[in-house]
Amino acid sequence: MTNQVNHHKVVLVGDGSVGSSYAFAMMQQQVADELVIVDIAQDHIQGDALDLEDVQPLTAPLDVHAGTYADASDADLVILTAGVPRKPGESRLDLVNKNLKILQSIIKPVMDSGFDGIFIVAANPVDVLTAATQKLSGLPRNRVIGSGTSLDTSRWQVALAKKFNADLRTVNAFILGEHGDSEFAAYEAATIAGKPLLTVAKEAGVTQAELDDMEQATRVKGGSIIKLKGATFYGVATSLMRLSRAVLHNENVVLPIGAPVDGQYGLHDMYIGTPALINATGVAEVLEVPLSAAEQAKMVKSADALQAVLNDALN
Ligand code: LAC
Repeated sequence: MTNQVNHHKVVLVGDGSVGSSYAFAMMQQQVADELVIVDIAQDHIQGDALDLEDVQPLTAPLDVHAGTYADASDADLVILTAGVPRKPGESRLDLVNKNLKILQSIIKPVMDSGFDGIFIVAANPVDVLTAATQKLSGLPRNRVIGSGTSLDTSRWQVALAKKFNADLRTVNAFILGEHGDSEFAAYEAATIAGKPLLTVAKEAGVTQAELDDMEQATRVKGGSIIKLKGATFYGVATSLMRLSRAVLHNENVVLPIGAPVDGQYGLHDMYIGTPALINATGVAEVLEVPLSAAEQAKMVKSADALQAVLNDALN
């Protein structure tokens, strides 16, 4: 951590569409005092830093500059977005070998810098790469956070608010499991304006089949966006910013993340999407959403799907 009191420093590794959206959000939201942008594309990071510094007079001063892995030495946070993005039709798990190699080339120089902060990981397949980041870095599990099902949860909340014409801020519902094809909605615990989602749906004449269709549309929404515009970035970049704020400002807030489960849902030694309490220590506590027996079975199935890829990738 940096020596200056209250000086929050973030190193962003990966300045593609997710990374640069994160950097732009940082200039708007002013979550840190210093943002260092690192990528193999040297011209691009120089250009982005110059472009972004011009935001300051219109928002507030924020020291944004291009840098190297050595800048992680006194950083509070390292954000990992570097990786090959998904092509149309490709699953996140298809990316594992390519992005694991890239990750290995990043974690070592970051740790060699003396980095002693918190990693937030977004590169896909995010649950696998989050687990890999923890193993490769050797940092305690609470100091490696995945974006997990944060974006999927946002997508689900948007879908529910639209469907039930509810204020988005009253929608309390989570997507759990892998950030990917085996993720699922936790129906039993979901509420809209304090009322159980399943009651709200019943009263509105919305059937479980319709909810299932909405859940499926949520599950494949990333792919749908990729088909339309080639990539998704604003949603995940904002999830990363929300997490960054929770850590840097020691917020003690509950957010859906890729969490290091240790007995929750009967799962161990992996990262998977569930809410957690986030503060300056990173993951302060992994929380368990109360699940029906059918939902618990979906969680185990999702974990099994991830574990198979983890075993292949990490052993
Ligand atoms: C998505 C990518 C980030 O779901 O996985 O949009």
